[in-house]
Amino acid sequence: MANDRVFQQVDGYLDELFGPADPVLEAALERSRAAGLPGIQVSSNLGRFLQVLVRACAARTVLEIGTLGGYSTIWITRALPADGRVVTLEFEPRHAQVARANLADAGLTDRVDVRVGRALDLLTELDRSGAGPFDFVFIDADKAPYAEYFEASMRLSRPGTLIVADNVVRKGAVAQGPSDDPDVAGIQRFNALVARDPRVTACVLQQVGVKGHDGMAIAVVGDPSP
Ligand code: SAH
Ligand code: DHB
Ligand code: MG
Repeated sequence: MANDRVFQQVDGYLDELFGPADPVLEAALERSRAAGLPGIQVSSNLGRFLQVLVRACAARTVLEIGTLGGYSTIWITRALPADGRVVTLEFEPRHAQVARANLADAGLTDRVDVRVGRALDLLTELDRSGAGPFDFVFIDADKAPYAEYFEASMRLSRPGTLIVADNVVRKGAVAQGPSDDPDVAGIQRFNALVARDPRVTACVLQQVGVKGHDGMAIAVVGDPSP
């Protein structure tokens, strides 16, 4: 998009304002790159956004679906109080291994439980074991089953839980009619579900920056939407 350059420029400007670059986060990105992980983690600016949301709802317990190298996990965990805990779910053992190394470097090993497996299976397990309710949920794994991740997150929530889902705009593809792309179709199904669900008050926020044009859905559990 023609505006990509200015989006990146503004992210650079904001990183300078909010900097200096954190050596632990930089090292996490470097280790993830060196291990060949895809560079699809949240931007630093959106990492700060997640921190603001986590703090705004005074979260102590967090569920993350989609760990990758643990970059978003570090941002989120750092926004929690000292007794805060995170459960993060990852399908790829190699990604989980890198995430564990990054979390160890960040001094967060004791506060984050990295679980390896298919998210849907791990969510069922969490539910059966009576885990939760979580105060904050970040959905950021494979896009096709986002609607199922939302339903599972609801079962692990309480009134006041904030559920945030990444990548729900996809450069506008979600607004361009039915799609053959299973990722886009999955996100469309998720957005329609959240928009109509009377158990949450929700919105979708379009976002731009170094990752281009995308967005996050934000839903607070509890008071029915008007
Ligand atoms: N939250 C991370 C980025 C996650 S990328 C960050 O911002 O730093 C999406 C991750 O979801 C990848 O690591 C991918 O392996 C994982 N994933 C894909 N399908 C999955 C599934 N079915 N269950 C669990 N994790 C899955
Ligand atoms: C993709 C996944 C993400 O979580 C993301 O933030 C960007 C892209 C992807 O699978 O293409
Ligand atoms: Mg994402």
